[in-house]
Amino acid sequence: MGLLSKIAILLGVGTITYVIRWHYIGRLYRSKRTFSSQELVVITGASSGIGLAVVKDLVRRGCHLVLGCRNEAAGQIVCDQLRKQFGSEVLVDVYFVDLGSLKSIVSFVDKVGLLGKPVYALVNNAGIFYAPPALTADQIEQTFEINYLGHYLLTILLLPKLKQHPNRSRIVNVVSKAQICVERFPDTELHQLYDDSPQNRFRAYQYSKFCLVLFAHKLSSILANSNVTVHCVDPGNVETAIYRHFPQLNNKVLYYLQKPIRLLAVKTPREGTRESNFLKLDEPGNEQWISMGSSVTPIDYYVEQILAQMFTNERSRCTISCKSGSVSFVLELLRIEDNEYYFTRSSAQMLTLAKQYKENGVKCFAKYPLLAHQFFNRAAKCLLSFAPLEYLDPAIEGADTIASIQSLLETLNLNIAACLIKQNRFDDALHMLEYVDRQNNPSPKAIYRKALAQFHVKQYTEAVKTLQRIDYATNKECSTLYANIVTNLEKEKEKYNSMVRKMFG
Ligand SMILES: NC(=O)c1ccc[n+]([C@@H]2O[C@H](COP(=O)([O-])OP(=O)(O)OC[C@H]3O[C@@H](n4cnc5c(N)ncnc54)[C@H](OP(=O)(O)O)[C@@H]3O)[C@@H](O)[C@H]2O)c1
Repeated sequence: MGLLSKIAILLGVGTITYVIRWHYIGRLYRSKRTFSSQELVVITGASSGIGLAVVKDLVRRGCHLVLGCRNEAAGQIVCDQLRKQFGSEVLVDVYFVDLGSLKSIVSFVDKVGLLGKPVYALVNNAGIFYAPPALTADQIEQTFEINYLGHYLLTILLLPKLKQHPNRSRIVNVVSKAQICVERFPDTELHQLYDDSPQNRFRAYQYSKFCLVLFAHKLSSILANSNVTVHCVDPGNVETAIYRHFPQLNNKVLYYLQKPIRLLAVKTPREGTRESNFLKLDEPGNEQWISMGSSVTPIDYYVEQILAQMFTNERSRCTISCKSGSVSFVLELLRIEDNEYYFTRSSAQMLTLAKQYKENGVKCFAKYPLLAHQFFNRAAKCLLSFAPLEYLDPAIEGADTIASIQSLLETLNLNIAACLIKQNRFDDALHMLEYVDRQNNPSPKAIYRKALAQFHVKQYTEAVKTLQRIDYATNKECSTLYANIVTNLEKEKEKYNSMVRKMFG
C-alpha cells in the first residue's frame, strides 16, 4: 500500500473518530479563570473519578480545596500528588467524611468551619451506583443516604458559610440522566431496604438523584434573593470506578471487549467535569443591559427571543448554532426595568417603537434580510395592533402623529416587499404591493419594486405598464429595469413568432 493511501486511511479514521467523539462528548468548556483570593471549594468524593478531575483543575487555578473523602489515605495520596505537581504552596485539606453517616457529616462541617473562611462552592459529587441494598450506620438504605440524604445535610450545614461569601457562591449537585425517567415521587419508603434485583438497584440510584434534583429545585427558589445559586449537572457517561457493581463492566472480559466503544463514546473524567467546572468558574460578571427590540444581528435577536421567555432570576445555558459555528453562554435575567405593555403606550410612543424596529431592520437588511423582515413585521404590527388608523382622533393623537404613522406604514410595506423580493417570494411581494395600484402618486421606489416583482413572475406587459405610471426614464433603477423587460418581451415575442412560423409554415 502506497504512502498516500496510508495517509488517506489515517485521515479517514481520524476524522470518523473525531466526529463520533464530538457527537457523544461535544465541545469542552474552557476557561482561563484563576482565583487570586484562594476561594474555598468543598467537594465530596474527591479522591477518584470526576471529583479528582475537578480537584486537579481547581487547584491549578488557585482555589483552596477541601477534599471530603471516605478513604482518608486515598485523599492524602491525592494531596501529596497535587503538591508534587503544583508545588508545596497549594492549599488542599483532606478531611474524612462518610456520607453514609450523619454524625460524620456534622464533624466534617465542623472541621471546614475551623478554617474560618466563607465557602465559594460546594460540590456534592460523591455517589454510588447499582450498589447492593444495605443499611448504613444510621439504619438508612445506603444509596439513598450517600447520594441524597448525606448531601442534603451537608448542604444545609454549610449554607451559612456559602452565604458569607462576598460574591456569588454556588452549590453544584452532580446528578445523572438516570433520574429523567422518574416522573413522580415513588410510593416506596426510599430510606428502607428494598429487595435486591437489577431493576431495584437501578431504581434506587434513579430515585436518589431525583431527590437531589428536587432538593436543588426547592433550595434555589428559597435562595432566589441570596448570593447562593444552586445547580444540578449531569456529567454524561464517564469512565470511572462508579460502575464497579455493574455486571457488564465488572466482568474483566466484557470490560476489555467494550473498551474500543467506550474510548469513542465515553468521556474521560476530565471531560466529565466540563459542566460542573463551567458552573464553578462562571464569573459573577458585569450586568449587561439589553433594550428589547434593539438587536441588529441574528445572535442578539435570538438572545432577545430567549430573554422574552424567561422569568426574573432565571438562569439559562444557551447554545446558538450558526453557519460559522456555535456560541454558548449563560443568560441570567436579573430584573426588568421600564417595562411597558403595548396597551399602555400612547400612539406617539408606539410610533417611536415602530421607528426603532424599522431602523433595526434597515441596518441589518443587507446582511440579514430574514432578520430585517422580522423587524419590519414587528414595526408594522406595533402600528396596526395599536388601533385602526381611521379610528385615531387627530384632536387626541395629533394630526402629525397620525400622518407619520401613515407614512411609516407605507415605508414598511415597501421594506417588507423588498425583503420578500430578496427571498424570491415575488407573489407575496406583489400581494404586499397591491396598494400601489390605488395610489394616485406612487413613489418611484414603490413602482420599481412592484415592476421588479412582476418582471420575475414574467408579467412583462403589466411590469411595463407599472413603470409607465412614472417618468421611469429619469430614474436609473427603473430605466434599467424597463430596458430588461423590453428585451425579455422581445425575446418572448420572437419565440412566439418562430413557433407560429414552425406551425403554419
Ligand atoms: N461516571 C459516570 O458515568 C456518571 C454518570 C452520571 C453521574 N455520575 C455521578 O458522578 C459522581 C461522581 O462519580 P464518579 O463517576 O466519579 O465515580 P467514582 O470514581 O466512583 O467516584 C465516586 C466518589 O464517591 C465517593 N464515595 C462513595 N461513597 C461514599 C461515602 N459513603 N462517603 C463519602 N464518599 C463516598 C467515592 O469514594 P471511595 O473511592 O472511597 O469509594 C468516590 O471518591 C457520582 O455522584 C455519580 O453518580 C457519574
